[in-house]
Amino acid sequence: MGQQKIIIALDGHSSCGKSTYAKLIAAELGYAYIDSGAMYRAVTLAAMDAGLFDDNAAPPPEKIEALLDHVELKLKHNPAKRRTELFLNDRMVEDLIRSMEVSAHVSYIAAISAVRRKMVEYQRMLGAEKGVVMDGRDIGTVVFPDAELKIFLTASLEVRAGRRYRELIEKGMAAEFADVQSNLEKRDHIDSNRDDSPLKQADDAILLDNSEMTLEQQMIWFNNLYRQVITAADDKD
Ligand code: CDP
Repeated sequence: MGQQKIIIALDGHSSCGKSTYAKLIAAELGYAYIDSGAMYRAVTLAAMDAGLFDDNAAPPPEKIEALLDHVELKLKHNPAKRRTELFLNDRMVEDLIRSMEVSAHVSYIAAISAVRRKMVEYQRMLGAEKGVVMDGRDIGTVVFPDAELKIFLTASLEVRAGRRYRELIEKGMAAEFADVQSNLEKRDHIDSNRDDSPLKQADDAILLDNSEMTLEQQMIWFNNLYRQVITAADDKD
């Protein structure tokens, strides 16, 4: 049965464990994992490096659009770390883009249409051969509206803030719990209310609230769903 490769779209709120889940799913199926949020974070880092946030006011979208011509993103596999790493103009930025400073500005950058156009184009190219799990905010609604399997993941704000706080502390990065929680709230608000590609559940996405679930339980849930989707797709062939 079902050896055909599909696209799995995993959207949802900030910090509900999408990337951990997506990585596990990709490993299980032998698929590529693609973190679309990392790309918006890298553009944000480029804007910060260019000094565009220095006076604390948000830079005008035209300045960000002009900057895009000087932003080159590349994904490269690092066999030693067994992960795919994002390069911004040939600099590996996997760790830098997870800082609280980047988190504070990223939703502003991600609301700019010119930024989204460029990122979506790159994401579609990466998914052209299928066999990918991509996580983000608009993967099932905009990037791959025809994805065969769409999951919309969420969890309570407290659970999400706790998970992100622990993750930052474990990585040795500076963070206060209250700041982490308010950043998540702010990002969810901006991401859900922007005009271009707002965060919302696609009509054909399946909702999963993982507040009280272990990763193991989430994988059992996923495997059931995957089997159903693949069987239905095989029946159609
Ligand atoms: O911190 P978390 O893992 O929840 O977020 P992320 O996936 O790294 O995404 C960071 C930010 O990028 C989000 O808050 C959105 O503003 C933006 N984003 C987006 O607009 N569209 C996507 N497909 C992915 C991320």
